[in-house]
Amino acid sequence: MDVTPFIIRKATLEDTNGIFELYKRVSKEIGGLARIEKEISKTYIENFSYKSFDNGLQFVVTEALNEQAIIAEIHCYQLEPGVFKHILSELTVAVHPDCQGKGLGRRLFQTLLEEIRFNRPDILRVELIARESNSKAIQLYEQLGFKIEGRFENRINNGNNSFEADIPMAWFPSKTR
Ligand SMILES: CC(C)(COP(=O)(O)OP(=O)(O)OC[C@H]1O[C@@H](n2cnc3c(N)ncnc32)[C@H](O)[C@@H]1OP(=O)(O)O)[C@@H](O)C(=O)NCCC(=O)NCCS
Repeated sequence: MDVTPFIIRKATLEDTNGIFELYKRVSKEIGGLARIEKEISKTYIENFSYKSFDNGLQFVVTEALNEQAIIAEIHCYQLEPGVFKHILSELTVAVHPDCQGKGLGRRLFQTLLEEIRFNRPDILRVELIARESNSKAIQLYEQLGFKIEGRFENRINNGNNSFEADIPMAWFPSKTR
């Protein structure tokens, strides 16, 4: 799949099916998303999309000539307790496997962080968690300014009695505003 030219735009409700298909495909590759393919449901997609529309952010990348063909997505949203309202959490990013390694994930992430920096003065912290073996994602997040905050030992169960650490990371817009 050729990823150029493409468009980055805010997601809409009409994107649910496209995001569902994207997540189904991305989750087939082991070692990226936490959920495996059978755990990707329409309800899961609708749930994070509603929360992102309500108080967070959600962007998609589409082909320029077909704005319904979703090749990448990113979202994050606020947690419910009031003490966390200055945080965007549960951040997830997914790029179609045919389009990975071509700069899309970086561009999509930069769009999200610029939106927060310039249009969300209420947000003082953005957080995510990546499995330790997902070094390509962790490297990207560090390049974008995320800092590693610790190590959740044995948080990921890879099956066959094999576990790995999850790495919590955070980005602070005040340091870039
Ligand atoms: C992780 C992910 C979002 C990155 O998006 P991407 O479009 O593939 O990445 P980009 O092409 O924008 O590359 C950005 C950086 O990632 C790293 N990277 C990308 N591909 C890489 C590879 N094959 N090997 C090592 N590092 C790589 C590099 O640091 C790269 O920076 P560089 O261009 O200066 O070398 C994407 O690969 C993905 O969706 N993976 C599956 C789902 C997933 O893991 N989601 C994150 C869960 S925490």
